[in-house]
Amino acid sequence: LFQEIPLAPPDVIFNLTATYKADTFAQKVNLGVGAYRDDGGKPWVLPVVKKAEQAIVNDLSLDHEYLPILGLAPFREASIRLILGSDSSAIKEARVTAAQTISGTGANHLGALFLSRFYLKGVPVYVSNPTWANHKPIFNNVGFETRDYAYFNPKNNGLDIDGLLADLKAAPENSIILLHACAHNPTGVDPTKDQWKAIADVIESKKHFPFFDCAYQGFASGDLDRDAWAVRYFVERGFELLVCQSYAKNFGLYGQRAGCLTFVLKNADAAARVSSQLAKLQRAEISNPPAHGARIVNKVLNDPDLYAEWTENLKTMSGRIGNMRKALYDKLIQHKTPGTWEHIINQIGMFSFTGLKASQVKVLKEKYHIYLTDNGRISMAGLSTSNVEYFADAVNYVVRN
Ligand code: LMR
Repeated sequence: LFQEIPLAPPDVIFNLTATYKADTFAQKVNLGVGAYRDDGGKPWVLPVVKKAEQAIVNDLSLDHEYLPILGLAPFREASIRLILGSDSSAIKEARVTAAQTISGTGANHLGALFLSRFYLKGVPVYVSNPTWANHKPIFNNVGFETRDYAYFNPKNNGLDIDGLLADLKAAPENSIILLHACAHNPTGVDPTKDQWKAIADVIESKKHFPFFDCAYQGFASGDLDRDAWAVRYFVERGFELLVCQSYAKNFGLYGQRAGCLTFVLKNADAAARVSSQLAKLQRAEISNPPAHGARIVNKVLNDPDLYAEWTENLKTMSGRIGNMRKALYDKLIQHKTPGTWEHIINQIGMFSFTGLKASQVKVLKEKYHIYLTDNGRISMAGLSTSNVEYFADAVNYVVRN
């Protein structure tokens, strides 16, 4: 039956992890997947997560029954407050609804699936060039055509705001526009507030639909509210929109798949209707979302002391990443490596878009056992005080040869 089906290529990001794990070279470095590591190169269970998890394990009132189809209610409510702000007018007007999802991927998928059923037919989805490797497949899987809008300007390793605005203007009216709420993946380049305003102006005038993906709240500025600024700005301007949240990175709950999809609608009646259809779609896909990760997030978001501790844990992660940016930059400057490297310290979030070419990445992999995606993206969290010099030496070599 299936002898003739085409062999699919392995996933670009997770294949790097597998190849890295299989590599027996002592100094190997994994800068592929966006997953936080401590300075010893080890995964980090956030202390606040350990505390919350312990309390959950000791709570004899909890059981392993199904969650409701749309997930744990206090988790969803806290997720809405986290992204929109507790004083959001949309919350006060009860025109918001949310579904707990299988992390950010599940939120993107459920959002895309919903739009494929209930939004205008035949509209394309515009994603930034470049974007997260999984965005196009998620939309393509539910039948959307995806197109690129200009984003990264390799000449200054910054935002191509003119190209971006021109592409959104040229897009057919009512297009779906995927926007990274903060800490853009893979470039680490975010629009400024003024640039967001200009983006919102075009989206409004062309009646586009804003589809926010927020996988790194707390990683861009280290401040949860500041990182949600763009989403809140669009809400205050009166857009109907959706936003996907992942708790993989900011809680380090990668494997627990805790996420949320929030819709902001015109009124409470539309929110109730959307909610009913989300429940119907979710039931047919996963019946109900997993409990453990959502319970951890729920406990932290709804307890002021744990919440305060979480913000400190976030600073530990973003602080270490900042130190690695500086260390890498300093070493490249010391080496007088040809090119400009300011973007390493100017870019934000978990990634740096180094500007290395695929041919240079190949040498890094083959000669130095350093793993990164072919587009030159590095996960800064994979660098540590013990390997940053090795990496800088390797970059210096590939740039010069
Ligand atoms: C990444 O971009 O490395 C992460 O978001 C992990 C993933 O799922 O691709």
